[in-house]
Amino acid sequence: MPKVLVVGSGGREHALAWKLSTEAEIFAAPGNPGTAQIATNLPISAGDPEALIEACRRHAIDFVVVGPENPLIEGLSDILRNAGVAVFGPSAQAARLEGSKAFAKEVMVAAGVPTAEHRNFTDPEAARGYTRMRFDQGRQVAVKASGAALGKGVVVSTTIEEAEDAIESMLTRRELGDAGAEIVIEDRLIGPEFSLIALCGGGGFLCLPPARDYKRALDCDRGPNTGGMGSYSPVPDVDPDFAERAAEEVVAPILRELSRRGLDYRGALFAGIMVQEGRPYCLEYNVRFGDPETQTLVRRMGSGLCEALRACAEGRTPGAVAIGAHAAVTVVVASAGYPGPVEKGLPIELAPMPNDVVIFHSGTEMIAGRLVTAGGRVIGVSASAPTLESARIKAYEATSAVRFRGARWRTDIAVTA
Ligand code: AMP
Ligand code: GLY
Repeated sequence: MPKVLVVGSGGREHALAWKLSTEAEIFAAPGNPGTAQIATNLPISAGDPEALIEACRRHAIDFVVVGPENPLIEGLSDILRNAGVAVFGPSAQAARLEGSKAFAKEVMVAAGVPTAEHRNFTDPEAARGYTRMRFDQGRQVAVKASGAALGKGVVVSTTIEEAEDAIESMLTRRELGDAGAEIVIEDRLIGPEFSLIALCGGGGFLCLPPARDYKRALDCDRGPNTGGMGSYSPVPDVDPDFAERAAEEVVAPILRELSRRGLDYRGALFAGIMVQEGRPYCLEYNVRFGDPETQTLVRRMGSGLCEALRACAEGRTPGAVAIGAHAAVTVVVASAGYPGPVEKGLPIELAPMPNDVVIFHSGTEMIAGRLVTAGGRVIGVSASAPTLESARIKAYEATSAVRFRGARWRTDIAVTA
């Protein structure tokens, strides 16, 4: 069996480790109480490359999968590769696709990827002038911090005042720190969204099926943006032909453009896509798997993930990953107050889960033998079933089996589907 080291400690990493553990021996750094059940947790943080290299040698790791974006943006893949370790995860140069929205837009335009009309700004006065002009021309705008801002850097504005507030808060008051020192102002698009994740290596790629996530904290897409409150797949309004078209228009050209610039992309490329008037537009790229899309996607997978990730890590184009015809739905159980500050250390009780339900730990910790909350998103409850409707019902039946003080979740995940 190959040996794989998964770097990270969230729900996405638990889901990857869970699926990979059927095909490989898994180590997780640092992992979480969920990965501890299926893998060997190593007490090493993603920010300690030397210790990770040492662990790869000691445990004869075949390849490393880097989960979160920050270590990728900071160059963890480059350091590991220079030490001779095969890594699923792009270089720092390529990770700028997520680390800098200004860079991402520049590459999209150069690659001919359909995306909203935009301009970049560091000067608030110029940004206000452009915003007024767009509104005068009958547009609305999204104001985006260029740097990585944990999902809090985008303000979709329907009025000039909202847009100007966002400009002030990012450029003048620097409320997002350096992440908001440069902003992108782009035209607002309107339409349904989906997430498309491609496994990339050797100049080629393999797209996983479309998934849909829910970014807003409250039902009916109200409340502030979060890291993601739930997800489902398949997405009935995105048929396979449309997904194929999105891959051709949004994934293939960006990889070609990166390659033209000498950047060899090895890892997951996540495209956030909005469908307007029947056309796929790219809203953003992430340089990693989505969270909680991954928790849903692994529930639809048969065999092949380990080999596909290994191929990418070694610079080869991945072969097929088996995908079942069944559906999967993940509901995130969050702490009271999320995405604002939350109380940590609350004891969690887990009742036995029904068949076909798996829980993925996001923000949990084991303290003195007791499972407690350790973050905003605590646990993802992931159900699989023949149809979306039955998977949704099963997931919601199981959410009440996760108990801690103040536990809350959206009640409309996969409802419109
Ligand atoms: P992003 O981080 O760029 O994906 O933006 C977060 C969310 O903001 C997206 O999932 C969309 O719901 C919304 N958004 C971003 N850009 C736009 C846009 N140009 N038009 C409308 N909504 C947008
Ligand atoms: N669920 C969206 C993301 O992972 O960025």
